[in-house]
Amino acid sequence: MSGFVLLGEKQEKMQISVIGSGYVGLVAATCLAELGHKVVCVDNDAAKIATLNAGDTLIHEDCLQELLSRHRGDGLSFSTSLAEAARHARVIFIAVGTPSCDDGSVDLSYVEAVARSLADSSDGFKVIVEKSTVPVYTSEWIQKAMARKGRNSGEFDVVSNPEFLREGTAVTDFLYPDRIVVGTNSVRAAGVMREVYASLIDGSYSQQASAVPRPERARSLPIYVETSPRSAELIKHASNAFLALKISFINAVANFCESVGADIEEVCRGIGSDSRIGSDFLRAGIGYGGSCFPKDVAAFRAVTHEFGFEFPLLDEIKRINDQQRARFIRKVRGVLRTLKNKRLAVLGLAFKDGTDDVRESPAIKVIDLLLQEKCEIVAFDPAAMDRARQVLGSRISYAPDAYVAAKGADALLVLTEWKEFTNLDLVRIKRLLRSPVVLDGRNLFDRAEMAAAGLNYHSIGRRTLEVAHSFVKKRHIAR
Ligand code: UDX
Repeated sequence: MSGFVLLGEKQEKMQISVIGSGYVGLVAATCLAELGHKVVCVDNDAAKIATLNAGDTLIHEDCLQELLSRHRGDGLSFSTSLAEAARHARVIFIAVGTPSCDDGSVDLSYVEAVARSLADSSDGFKVIVEKSTVPVYTSEWIQKAMARKGRNSGEFDVVSNPEFLREGTAVTDFLYPDRIVVGTNSVRAAGVMREVYASLIDGSYSQQASAVPRPERARSLPIYVETSPRSAELIKHASNAFLALKISFINAVANFCESVGADIEEVCRGIGSDSRIGSDFLRAGIGYGGSCFPKDVAAFRAVTHEFGFEFPLLDEIKRINDQQRARFIRKVRGVLRTLKNKRLAVLGLAFKDGTDDVRESPAIKVIDLLLQEKCEIVAFDPAAMDRARQVLGSRISYAPDAYVAAKGADALLVLTEWKEFTNLDLVRIKRLLRSPVVLDGRNLFDRAEMAAAGLNYHSIGRRTLEVAHSFVKKRHIAR
């Protein structure tokens, strides 16, 4: 029986291909090899494939480099040949890009191109797995694309298997997921997918001596959710929209806290301790960003619209998120009076901590707005400087560390929730700043600690603890 290699009594090593070596594709391919499968990862970017074959992961993710080194050339190889990948495998994951069109809908042209090529080059029965985030109905769309190329339904099954990994924790999110969602109408394909994930479903992977350790908060065993393809596709969009909703909701509540003098941290503790709500994704700040939430909220809105289904809540999630940046700018202007010719120190450029990714970064959106006010910006980020430089160029300056950034600045702005910022020497920061003003768009610091360090600390949804009124007067005199 082709496509299978006997591993031992319980699990069989499968021949798997992953089309696309972006974030999801590369992590999935490497982790499937870690599960013992024989994986070929394909990309039409020859330079990328050469770098991967040379052993470089191209993206910063804990454990990824180690797993790549462990499996490269054995269970894991990289190729530019889709035809080879199609012949090699029984299970083919489609993990290509699904960028947004101007109206927010999803551009499926790369998915379609892959489906067509697979139809041309496949030999024997194939399970084609949607791994990219796609709108509902895409699996039927792939079926049609294959059929148009003369493939009859007996020769392949299409499965929806959305990925829920987060940047920064991608490898452990894949190996220790809360749930594995598999959407298919085929019993045969359902059986194959259970084989693919067998060692995660029964927990045997985590028992292996060389296994990537399970994160403390991870479930011991994932919930295995088998659904129809449409439901699985919808689970992905709805999950991301709901998480974005939680963030926009708590940001709206934080804004109201500022109007009534309540404290968002206290409020979060109160509502988050309700097990029906949970405390995750209730961190107020300048809003969500990244390559997923903004795109998926827009895509979900576009597909509901396409089906004539009004879903205004999705517009509100986006509106609150966009407003959060404008609101922060007003706060900075409110504290500094005018921003023109002011020198601002910015901590954080990445869209969140733990990654060098700046796609749809709230920090960069805030910087764009600030630059319109003709101020000068000096920024520091522990990982995303290079990628930010590609976006912002010389419109801002880049400091080697937070202290150099703070030196002589009229205020310090915190825009990304890097935990390492909380270890900063606040007294030293105060000494370096021209005026001891901190505006925190991520509520990273403790207000009392900031006040004790003599810093005027403004955050989101929390009352500002005034420091030595004499500060304001003195500063004026200094000018
Ligand atoms: C997200 C989903 O979490 C993941 O399941 C999906 O597969 C891809 O999209 P990711 O984009 O990597 O993952 O980042 P995530 O950790 O979810 O953060 C997204 C954004 O929300 C970041 O900008 C983050 O700063 C912001 N955020 C997150 C908040 O503002 N408050 C929170 O409480 C949590």
